[in-house]
Amino acid sequence: MSAQTVRWLLPKHDYWSTPFAESLLQHLDLQPGLRILDIACGHGIPAFYLAEQIGPTGEVLAIDMSAGQVARAKAIQGPQLPWLQFECMDMRSLRSDLPMFDRITGNLSVMFFRPNRFQTVQGLVEHLAPEGQLVLTFPSYGTFDSLWQSVDQAMTQKNLIKERQRFHDYLNERPSAKDGRTWLEQLDLERVGAFEYPLEVKTGPGQKFLYHPLLRGGFLDDVYECFEDQSLANRFMTDIAQDIAQFTPLIAQRCVLSGWTRASA
Ligand SMILES: C[S@@+](CC[C@H](N)C(=O)[O-])C[C@H]1O[C@@H](n2cnc3c(N)ncnc32)[C@H](O)[C@@H]1O
Repeated sequence: MSAQTVRWLLPKHDYWSTPFAESLLQHLDLQPGLRILDIACGHGIPAFYLAEQIGPTGEVLAIDMSAGQVARAKAIQGPQLPWLQFECMDMRSLRSDLPMFDRITGNLSVMFFRPNRFQTVQGLVEHLAPEGQLVLTFPSYGTFDSLWQSVDQAMTQKNLIKERQRFHDYLNERPSAKDGRTWLEQLDLERVGAFEYPLEVKTGPGQKFLYHPLLRGGFLDDVYECFEDQSLANRFMTDIAQDIAQFTPLIAQRCVLSGWTRASA
């Protein structure tokens, strides 16, 4: 397919999902006619792109736990790409009647594999055909470390002992590229790789930082959750937001995990 005829490109204005999806595609072996499972599909990044690339002889099943996201994806799809199907399903417990897939992809997915990330990956690998490829992305350990260091220092200075303990529990629970590689190796996948690509997230000071659509939707909320007293959390974060020079540039680590199942005996 020539570049001119591709209509389902990754959205250019998206400064988070798209760069992660680009790294995923860099490692994904994509060919016409494949059967693909795309997990944590959201409203279709990169499911639409994958479906167009594999063409009508292939199939893409794209799943998400959120009925709202699935409805949004279906509304975008309309009658197009009929070999792409969106369904509401929990990726941590796939339905046993699902077929085997040649590829399983999941952009920005691994952080939602809780509580048992290894078990979730194992469940996915069970649905991968022989010589099939699993490719997952997530912001790995190290993401926004400069910000976390500023938060940690400020908590220490302000003697916020309980909050700091919860904050450390949160930091230590984040999966690393090494964790991901270990899971795939333990599951006997071959050609295992865990790759990391830095991504700068731009922010302004004060309200621009506190209400940054990416940060406030998840990463900063995790800090607020360390506080029982939300008005104290607000004052604490307002102070942090005054001095963004302390932690910018803000760098995320785009981690891509890739591995292949072996040929059947
Ligand atoms: C960060 S979004 C990524 C969406 C899309 N892949 C993208 O790149 O824009 C993560 C998605 O995972 C979905 N999700 C979270 N937990 C899930 C689960 N257990 N099973 C399926 N989807 C889940 C959320 O509803 C959300 O749409």
